[in-house]
Amino acid sequence: MAELIAPHGGRLVQRVATGAEKEKWLERAAAFPSISVGAVTLSDLHCLATGVFSPLTGFLNERDYQSVRDEMRLADGTVWSIPITLPIPEEKVAEVKRAEYVSLEMETGALVAVVRVESVYRVDSELEASKVYQTVDRNHPGVARLTAQSNVYLGGEITLLERLDQGIFAKYAYDPADTRKMFEERGWRKVVGFQTRNPVHRAHEYIQKAALETVDGLFLHPLVGQTKSDDIPADVRLKSYEVILEHYYPRDRVMLGVFPAAMRYAGPREAIFHAMARKNYGCTHFIVGRDHAGVGDYYGTYDAQKIFSRFTPDELGITPLFFEHSFYCKKCAGMASYKTCPHGKEDHVILSGTKVRQMLREGTMPPPEFSRPEVVRVLIDGMKNA
Ligand code: ADX
Repeated sequence: MAELIAPHGGRLVQRVATGAEKEKWLERAAAFPSISVGAVTLSDLHCLATGVFSPLTGFLNERDYQSVRDEMRLADGTVWSIPITLPIPEEKVAEVKRAEYVSLEMETGALVAVVRVESVYRVDSELEASKVYQTVDRNHPGVARLTAQSNVYLGGEITLLERLDQGIFAKYAYDPADTRKMFEERGWRKVVGFQTRNPVHRAHEYIQKAALETVDGLFLHPLVGQTKSDDIPADVRLKSYEVILEHYYPRDRVMLGVFPAAMRYAGPREAIFHAMARKNYGCTHFIVGRDHAGVGDYYGTYDAQKIFSRFTPDELGITPLFFEHSFYCKKCAGMASYKTCPHGKEDHVILSGTKVRQMLREGTMPPPEFSRPEVVRVLIDGMKNA
């Protein structure tokens, strides 16, 4: 039997209460102060409870928060690059400080989780922005979110009482414990994970397949948590994956699943975070191409690759696979990258995400060298109905 990679921190965290344990919490929770949470916190709760964020068992306490913000490590030294935090409204602070537990509710009032009150602390949002996002510009979607939310955080272990309704993604919503079993059943020892928040295009396909050449299986893992409003909706992106898998990928070597986390657009720091999460799903390798998890011009093209050198292979556990900017080259008559192609810009078919979205909205097909026609048709239809 194939031996799986250990989860980050050594143990896959499971904090979903069911049966009698859930009943017990439901009875007690009525007496706890309650806080209403939005989409990003719901997704964080789901990831914390199912081990996607192992070794985290809850929202960061002050010590871990400061250490993650400043050192990209938890206070015990474990690599962790993105603060997973729970902002609480100012008017609830006094009540929360007195409580032992807090219950978290959806906007509908439905109870989803309880948090043990371990640490209530005020943060400097600008400092967090400048460390995590490397900018305090409010046009950055991560900074905008940070600025809009309360700067008092509650840290503590969580227990999830109601799993997130995955809706149309349910069919592909595997927990880390599930994917680990699935990789094992397939006999995959080396599995490469692929993060994406975009529809699949030829350059993605090129780097995915190049990576697959050297491992046993490819885990396509599009993010379906919150993204910025002008990104292509997750349901349309998922359809682009279904259609390309049907026509261009070997079924026995590729698995499609959805990644429930919210996008942070933190570039390099998010690349580390994405890699750690995929390690928890059982991936041994992780693809990092150009401008991974970037937005606008906030990060250098390869910053998300360079950051990996700040950690030892042992403390990362998962192996990053780096790819240069890839494209179709007319002279090579095939996919290539700046690393492998000797020809000039005029021979390269490169379209920006903004340009492609504009073409799709207008119903114009991007060229087949950029995107498979089957995919483009799905996207044009999807954008019409969006
Ligand atoms: S991301 O925000 O999820 O990183 P995207 O879906 O665009 O964005 O990218 C998914 C992965 O493919 C990332 O690792 C990114 O670096 C890589 N990538 C995207 N386009 C290219 C390209 N043309 N060449 C090389 N790598 C790319």
